[in-house]
Amino acid sequence: MRDLEETKLQYEYIEKAKKYVKEREEQAGRKLTCCVKTFGCQMNARDSEKLIGILTDIGYEDTEDEHADFVIYNTCTVRENANNKVYGRLGYLSNYKKKNPQMMIALCGCMMQEQEVVEKIRKSYRFVNLIFGTHNIYKFAELLCRAMESDSMIVDIWKDTDKIVEDLPSRRKYSFKSGVNIMFGCNNFCSYCIVPYVRGRERSREPEDIIREIEGLVADGVTEVMLLGQNVNSYGKNLENPVTFANLLREVNKIEGLKRIRFMTSHPKDLSDDLILAMKECDKVCKHMHLPLQSGSTRLLEIMNRHYTKEQYLEIVRKLREAIPDIAITTDIIVGFPGETEEDFAETLDVVKQVQYDSAFTFIYSKRTGTPAAAMENQVDEQTVKRRFDVLLKEVKEISEKKAKLLEHQTVEVLAEELNEQDASLITGRLSNNSVVHFPGTEDMIGKLYQVRLNECKGFYYLGEVVADA
Ligand code: 5AD
Ligand code: SF4
Repeated sequence: MRDLEETKLQYEYIEKAKKYVKEREEQAGRKLTCCVKTFGCQMNARDSEKLIGILTDIGYEDTEDEHADFVIYNTCTVRENANNKVYGRLGYLSNYKKKNPQMMIALCGCMMQEQEVVEKIRKSYRFVNLIFGTHNIYKFAELLCRAMESDSMIVDIWKDTDKIVEDLPSRRKYSFKSGVNIMFGCNNFCSYCIVPYVRGRERSREPEDIIREIEGLVADGVTEVMLLGQNVNSYGKNLENPVTFANLLREVNKIEGLKRIRFMTSHPKDLSDDLILAMKECDKVCKHMHLPLQSGSTRLLEIMNRHYTKEQYLEIVRKLREAIPDIAITTDIIVGFPGETEEDFAETLDVVKQVQYDSAFTFIYSKRTGTPAAAMENQVDEQTVKRRFDVLLKEVKEISEKKAKLLEHQTVEVLAEELNEQDASLITGRLSNNSVVHFPGTEDMIGKLYQVRLNECKGFYYLGEVVADA
């Protein structure tokens, strides 16, 4: 449910927070700084832009330096090592705070939705000022006021929400591209995955709110949007007036001034023929499909609760390539899911060879407490998992290098994205298929499209040169 009153209320808290920041500024005799550190996925990256939007609105200066006056970690918990990273860094933060007692530390994001995590922080990391979760991020201004008014740790975690609060501030990392949430949460309960427990049930935004946001972004210089959701293919099913993701794409494609549309993530079980048709029809939709496989074994897919078979997955890939021959297909694969046999793993390798992915993220299965898979008895031993992981990685790498090579010497449309970090005479840009190319250029080119000749393939990226404006 969209909640307009809440938006108004949060703007009142923003005004209040401005006063608090001003007072602290006067005390310190300088501007205050904030640092938002993001862990995890694009969803979190977008949430962080909203946090920075509020922090900079109330008077903080944004910095990358964690010695800032307000540091917030936007956490991820999809795999165990994501959690460990946060605990490790909190150790450093406590030292920074000793030197700057005014410093405020906040934690939010998926990891905070886990009860044990919050208990551990309450007990062992008492210097943290504020903890909140994924459902009440829109209340950040209000929570910030409470934290500034209090000497003790403020903890506000909700189990779920049906609220969607529109029109709050946000500060984009890139001037010309932006993530746009089209839905929140996930209803799929894949048996290894903690996301549905920490992000709550699926909620879609109204299409007109999405279009309005994108129109606003375009007016502000954005040329590329990434539509974000855990499972964009089931977008709009639960709206009062249901809308399909394919039709949403068609509407977004009509927005004048917008040049590129990407989306993430697709679940194979909900990928419709109409979506493939929409991708083919819509000239702004990039020729890239990220389609998580997770496993190539139909037996494991069932235990994973994925609702598709190996054959159904391969059939979707066939249809995608038939409709859009030069589409790039990328994926996520988990190795070492409980009970994974050599035969199961061989099925995964077989899909990898058949599909010829342009790139693949490979993950070692990580046991997440509370998920059905964590309680399964037949966990695979570490050594076997490591061996399979290495075999898979090698295969994936060989295929993606081979695929990348196919585009060498071709001229393609590229969006100039940023100055190259190592060499400022180069611009780094992206192809429609999401590959990266470096080419000679200047800062004023950023955000514009060019025809770039891919002179040399360097494995995962290209070196090229501009031959014309797009
Ligand atoms: N262990 C390993 N990888 C996981 N993923 C999700 N949960 C787990 C887990 N418990 C991977 C999936 C998903 C990606 C975002 O993270 O491959 O697509
Ligand atoms: Fe996790 Fe599956 Fe939902 Fe993706 S679709 S977030 S893997 S439960």
